[in-house]
Amino acid sequence: MPERSRVAVLISGRGSNMAALIYASRADDCPYEVRLVTGDNPDAPGLGLAKAEGVPVVRLATPTPKTKDHYLRDLHVLLEKEAIDLITLAGFMRIIPEDFLSRWEGRIVNIHPSLLPKHKGLRTHEACLAADEKVSGATVHLVTPELDSGDILAQVEVAVLPGDTAETLAERVLIAEH
Ligand code: GRF
Repeated sequence: MPERSRVAVLISGRGSNMAALIYASRADDCPYEVRLVTGDNPDAPGLGLAKAEGVPVVRLATPTPKTKDHYLRDLHVLLEKEAIDLITLAGFMRIIPEDFLSRWEGRIVNIHPSLLPKHKGLRTHEACLAADEKVSGATVHLVTPELDSGDILAQVEVAVLPGDTAETLAERVLIAEH
């Protein structure tokens, strides 16, 4: 079997998308392995889950405006040290600056809970309902300096149901994200 791509997953919170990536990687024919889980919140619940699943976890301190450059340097060193091929942002709630992105161009993807290019940014489900959409969904896209605007790699549609709230829609879209 060819060597698997070495994936790092960056999270900020719960980490259910991260968990889906880890579990999928256990299939014999999965083309990647999760070699590192880290993020911007050392107390993110997802980090404990990754550790319990035997995936290496690094708890980086939450960056402040003062420590941001240092944080990004540490993150880059860590990714290089682990010989990471691909970065996945899975509920990583931080904008990554252009100079960092340029070093990972074409090798960093994000999971976004809407059918991009519709409803970029935060509060996507509210925006989808306010626009009276009949369909929402999940998108995996390349990360570029412009928010939620890189090339779309994959999308899954999710029907909007009568009576949906942002919460009920988010729950079903999350299943599609996984
Ligand atoms: C997901 O809906 C993701 O698309 C969004 O934040 C949520 C994170 O969920 N950016 P989880 O941490 O993967 O459970």
